[in-house]
Amino acid sequence: MNSKWQHFYQKTYQERLALIAEAADLTAKEVNQLATQNSPANNQLIENFVSDYPLPSGVATNLVINGKTYLVPMVTEEPSVIAAASNGSQMLAVNGISARVISRLIDGQIILKGANFDQLETFVTANRQQLFEVANQSHPSVLKHGGGAQRVAIRKLSTQFTSIDLSVDPGEAMGANLVNTMLEAVSGWLKDQLAVNVTMAILTNFAADSLVTVSGLVSFEQLAKGSLSGKAVAQRIADASQVAQLDPRRATTHNKGIMNGIDAAAVAFGNDWRAIESAVHAYAARSGQYRGLSQWQVSDRGLAGKLTLPIPIGFVGGATSVFPLAKINQRIAKLTSAGEEMQLLAAIGLAQNLAALKALVTEGIQRGHMSLQLKSLAMANGATESELPQVVAELKKVAHASAGDVKQILKQLRR
Ligand code: MEV
Repeated sequence: MNSKWQHFYQKTYQERLALIAEAADLTAKEVNQLATQNSPANNQLIENFVSDYPLPSGVATNLVINGKTYLVPMVTEEPSVIAAASNGSQMLAVNGISARVISRLIDGQIILKGANFDQLETFVTANRQQLFEVANQSHPSVLKHGGGAQRVAIRKLSTQFTSIDLSVDPGEAMGANLVNTMLEAVSGWLKDQLAVNVTMAILTNFAADSLVTVSGLVSFEQLAKGSLSGKAVAQRIADASQVAQLDPRRATTHNKGIMNGIDAAAVAFGNDWRAIESAVHAYAARSGQYRGLSQWQVSDRGLAGKLTLPIPIGFVGGATSVFPLAKINQRIAKLTSAGEEMQLLAAIGLAQNLAALKALVTEGIQRGHMSLQLKSLAMANGATESELPQVVAELKKVAHASAGDVKQILKQLRR
């Protein structure tokens, strides 16, 4: 390896930047852009830090959950997401969304190789309380907040491998560090007691014990579009929901639409969206077939929707405590607990899904989003903020606007 990259992480920020600029042949303007978006806190947070990477942050309006109205902070680069979230929330606001946390535990596993399963099972059953004590003592602060180890189970994975599954109440934290510390302590204790061979000890992102459920009802009047009656649109949305149960290809896109809302808000609150993503998609495939997470049905009173999914997040600790913007966003949403945040994330997922399905089964997704998409096409091809309105107006006249059209329009505008 080229020696200049060795111990890169030990170099100062300026040294790292100079090396990257030289290797990538960056212009002075580009280097300046990296260097001016350089917050000291982020430099401490990750290794080999180069620059902050700002994404647009906005708020969706109109979300009503359990009788409380929320502003939902969302961080997203996708132009239509916040508009659609607000629109879906509004349709659901007349009757409001009902939300409930089903469970809020974080699970982890200790994988053992070559253990005698029966002996291990007997030992774990007989020493359950001591196992909990070892876990809790490794992280005593969790007990102050009423959390701690709650459940242990043992599963045979094969003739060779066994999993000991520990479930922990993380209080208001996400609990990843907490459960990993506990699992390592319990592993050490098991090795002392039984001389077992531990392959690994780690939380599981399966998160089936972090479930939240939301439901809502949209009146037919809210759904009418053009020549289609509200009832007809409701039936089409119910059909779309059914297709997502039948076909994994459609289910993946259906769920991506739900995650457009959930991820954007999860990022705004400083949460680990990869953990949410992996949990959600594993849950969607729990029957052995990947299916849509939400379901919509026509009833006498309107279109009824429900969504149940795992949302493993924390309200304190990790990035939620490091990023000032995450704290401000919690205040904008007036959130008071992790459970309330789980409800809000699931609800915005339901609203996002409703707006996407309504657009898809009526005028199609492109029409409503056209202005926003043309705006981002114009920006991507060099239009300045003040040029945007004129460029977008011109692009609207073109059948299939492309980068070439933007360049042409800009050329004429700048003459
Ligand atoms: C686009 O980001 C999301 C949608 O494709 C979701 C869906 O098809 O349900 C519109």
